[in-house]
Amino acid sequence: NQGLETLLQNLEVDGPLPVFPSISSYPLENPMDIYRLYLTHATNQIIECDSANIYDSLQRPTNASKCDLTLVVPRLGIRVKKPDEFAVEIASKFPKSPLFTVIPPSGIWVPVSFSPKTLPLLLLPYVFDREKTYGWNLSYGLKYETNISTPRKKVVVEFSSPNIAKEFHAGHLRSTIIGAFISNLYESMGWDVVKVNYLGDWGKQFGLLAVGWQRYGSEELFKQDPLGHLLDIYARINREFKPEQDASRDARDKGLDTEEIESKGLYAERNYFFKRMENGDEEALTLWRRFRDVSIERYISTYARLNITFDEYSGESQVQSSTTEKVERILQENGICEEDNGSSIINFKKHGAPKLASTVIRNRTGTTTYLLRDVGAVLERAEKYDFDKMIYVVSAEQDLYFQRLFKTVELMGFPELASKLLHINFGKVQGMSSRMGTVRLLSDILNESGKAMHELMKANEVKYAQVENPKDISDIIGITAVMVQDMSGKRVHNYPFDMTRMTSFEGDTGPYLQYAHARLSSIIRKTELGRDDLANADFSYLEDNQHVTYLLRLIAQWPDVVATALKNHEPSTILTYLFNLTHQISSSYDIVKVVNAPEGPDVTRARASLFEAARQVLNNGMRLLGITPVDRY
Ligand code: ARG
Repeated sequence: NQGLETLLQNLEVDGPLPVFPSISSYPLENPMDIYRLYLTHATNQIIECDSANIYDSLQRPTNASKCDLTLVVPRLGIRVKKPDEFAVEIASKFPKSPLFTVIPPSGIWVPVSFSPKTLPLLLLPYVFDREKTYGWNLSYGLKYETNISTPRKKVVVEFSSPNIAKEFHAGHLRSTIIGAFISNLYESMGWDVVKVNYLGDWGKQFGLLAVGWQRYGSEELFKQDPLGHLLDIYARINREFKPEQDASRDARDKGLDTEEIESKGLYAERNYFFKRMENGDEEALTLWRRFRDVSIERYISTYARLNITFDEYSGESQVQSSTTEKVERILQENGICEEDNGSSIINFKKHGAPKLASTVIRNRTGTTTYLLRDVGAVLERAEKYDFDKMIYVVSAEQDLYFQRLFKTVELMGFPELASKLLHINFGKVQGMSSRMGTVRLLSDILNESGKAMHELMKANEVKYAQVENPKDISDIIGITAVMVQDMSGKRVHNYPFDMTRMTSFEGDTGPYLQYAHARLSSIIRKTELGRDDLANADFSYLEDNQHVTYLLRLIAQWPDVVATALKNHEPSTILTYLFNLTHQISSSYDIVKVVNAPEGPDVTRARASLFEAARQVLNNGMRLLGITPVDRY
């Protein structure tokens, strides 16, 4: 704090940083908060109003070309007859400050712009001090915000969660990308994060896979390509199973008993094998364990290509039967579940949640369901991690399912636990497999996008010859293309998988973002200025022009943007900002010349620092999204 106070004194700001016990403000993490504090103090001198209200009414403008912050008069929480006249009155009484100027209002807001003279002197050293952590705010994760030594909050983030022997589909891809982002986000905001991969490694489909293995399994093929072979087997046995499944569905639709059909053929074989698994039959479990272990081994190396590691590979199989039995017992004791045709169900209509209809929790063959295992997993994780929050990153197709899951936990008598559970959903990707050829595994998706990017890079022979390790670089940029396409829109929106568009260097794409980062890096390399030269440049050489002002404004907003993303869990909040930043940077190059600026070396140095700060923000944002920024290509 001392450093900041000294800096403020040097800027001849009136008085030390104001403190308000009732306001959570983070001047050491967020430079905007410094301005908010001084503005609150100044406003307090003018009007009779609660300081916390003033602080909260200072908002980022929707149109950032006009000013840095606006004081939104209706948000002050005081009754005024004519808010627009009141805005004019407030503005006219505002004291002069070296930090900001108030723009004459034309509405219900008082626009404030940060002084172009002092903003760079305050902001750039601030960014250079924090570097890779500029934008992060560890105080957000503290249980009690005022004391740094207090324990941190814990969040369990469950994501990716593919099903063994089944295709890694677009839903899993989105869960992986968004889940990794959410984990990074909570980590950067000071939470303890436990990353869990909840594999689909149990259930009747596993029985079917085992039946398929008994018929078509080949040790040799399994050795060559274990995941591919399992997929082949599952696809084949599933095809053979389909007519039986259809017959059963028809019967059910006609209101007939399905037991007749399901007691023979593949149905019977499948159910028998799964029953053996649930009963702990060693032979059945050995086969299952073999499939599971080899799958996890492959997953680990593929996730590593995305810089993703998990703290725990759990899965449906890992839920103890003692826990699922306990869940059922509690449900019975509370009169929440009932018997229906041999199976055990919850009829949510009877428990105040008619929209959730009814659902089976234990099959009539006595085996557990997806839901029952999930409820068990909630209890086990609560015990194991004592989390403050648990986030499930799963497709919106499972919206209803998660409502049922959370409601069940609540009905069991654990409303507080239920309130800690959060489903972060997302929409569909249309046509991924058809446009990418045969993609069945995450590694296929990454290989295909890397290949496409490599082809594209090869097309520019001159440039291609300059890249040191084109294969690695194209891999990274290919992955970036997929990730950026996925995170550009609001999570719930569906989008079409478009390889041509996402790999383009034009438009708001991953390759463009990487290009912007590499270009900034290259400009700074060309100045041959070291880190200390940049950090200690004389920022008063930065001229007062619109390009410089906009860049500084965007750099100052970055911590606010991250805080917003923590609230809405939208990666697009970050990406939209990063594209604004890169557009601003690229339109500044011609005007704010860095290398050999005609104005002389001091100006070159100050401008290089500005662009370096912008590069740092871009770099931080990309890493937050899970992207590896490249320095050259
Ligand atoms: N394996 C599931 C699927 O592929 C996703 C698991 C979601 N998580 C959960 N706790 N149910 O659809």
